[in-house]
Amino acid sequence: MRKLEDIVSLCKRRGFIFPGSDVYGGFAGTWDFGPLGVTLKKKIMDEWWSYFVDNRDDIYGIDAAILMNPKTWVASGHVATFADPLVECKECKSRFRADKIADGISESVTTEEFLATHTKCPVCGKENWGPIRKFNMMFRTHVGAVLPEDTQENPELAEKNIAYLRPETAQGIFTNYKNVVDTFYPSLPFGLAQQGKAFRNEISPRDFILRDRECSQMEIEYFVHPNNWEAEFEKIYKECDNFFKTRMGLKLSDINHLEVAPEDRAHYSKRTVDFMFNYPNGEEELMGLAYRTDFDLQNIARESGKSMDYRDKITGETFVPHVIEPSIGVERLFLAVISTAYTEDEVNGEKRIVLKLPENLAPYKFCVSPLLKNKPELVAKAKEVYDKLRAKYGNVTWDDSGNIGKRYRKQDEIGTPKCVVIDFDTLEDSTVTVRDRDTTEQTRVKINDL
Ligand code: GAP
Repeated sequence: MRKLEDIVSLCKRRGFIFPGSDVYGGFAGTWDFGPLGVTLKKKIMDEWWSYFVDNRDDIYGIDAAILMNPKTWVASGHVATFADPLVECKECKSRFRADKIADGISESVTTEEFLATHTKCPVCGKENWGPIRKFNMMFRTHVGAVLPEDTQENPELAEKNIAYLRPETAQGIFTNYKNVVDTFYPSLPFGLAQQGKAFRNEISPRDFILRDRECSQMEIEYFVHPNNWEAEFEKIYKECDNFFKTRMGLKLSDINHLEVAPEDRAHYSKRTVDFMFNYPNGEEELMGLAYRTDFDLQNIARESGKSMDYRDKITGETFVPHVIEPSIGVERLFLAVISTAYTEDEVNGEKRIVLKLPENLAPYKFCVSPLLKNKPELVAKAKEVYDKLRAKYGNVTWDDSGNIGKRYRKQDEIGTPKCVVIDFDTLEDSTVTVRDRDTTEQTRVKINDL
């Protein structure tokens, strides 16, 4: 059975993911992707882009700035409502997100409801709680030449220069809707897609890369006619499942589609389906699919004084489009992919860890090795094969360390689908051994047929 600690250990041991600022003892809620991690992460993001943007005529990409005019976050409702319920233990002063330490309550929990759960403090074990307070999760900063002493002397100046690190990439899309309509004249329905960093000052970051303070999101705002939102919602719903299955190698039986109750939905949503994934530590949201209505465009129109109307090219009808939003965190998808791929089995009586990643995601497609590294003729032939495969596939690795058994184990752990070994027979008949990661079967293949 896959356990989160085994996956964390593999990720560190093999250079997928390290704790952020590791050398200084870490920095809660941040993670650094190592050489293999960044490759896998990039492939996940590229597959998403290929599936939802490049292979479609109705979705365009954008890449907006992270720092946005602070009016954005007033208009979007984040300044007023992007908050989690914070509760403090009066005994040991530890602070927690209330709905994460008590069972059966939601994010909108009141102090009375929380106290009625008789939850004990996870740190000191006492039950002596302060009131529930709303904690806004946006990171604030000051923009421009503002010194700390300026803001102490003149709090108004501080307020004037406040900026936020974006808590979702979505607003960079909404604020560019009009630019794209006026330059591209897309027909409805159409979508705008964006990938990028998002920041949330989570009260308790946890479960490895599942709840981070700095994460990456992949979001689409799909603009539709208001009368048509239900049909479009269903279409995107199915396309997301298909993406998870065909591009990410996830099992649909590991995804539970949860219809979110009105009181638990984000402030902007009239319907939300959470795609809950069966992670090693339990079920958690992988992706949210929300019907955001015209909430965002109407707010932008009000705050900016600019019209967000769309004029239908055929009928001439003018209206503000409604929006369907599939929103997914890259780190959560990464963890879903890697925990699906993580397998322990036995080969020749020995325990083996193998990452059965789909070929399109594996950091390396092939590993090429000479059987013996102290035989120059084998090394030279292996180099030739390596160069040939690399010219064709790009992501090919070379390994001549340790013995062949150790090389196979290492490549299994990092998910390389095929190991190609050059031996003395290769010099005679131009065939190589190709060893399959999942079955461990070895076959002889002509170099030209690789
Ligand atoms: N624009 C909508 C939005 O941001 P959300 O449900 O707050 O909605 C969307 O977030 C997705 O972003 C989640 O389903 C999750 O995959 C990811 N996500 C959110 N907060 C995260 C965090 N602190 N760490 C990692 N991923 C996160």
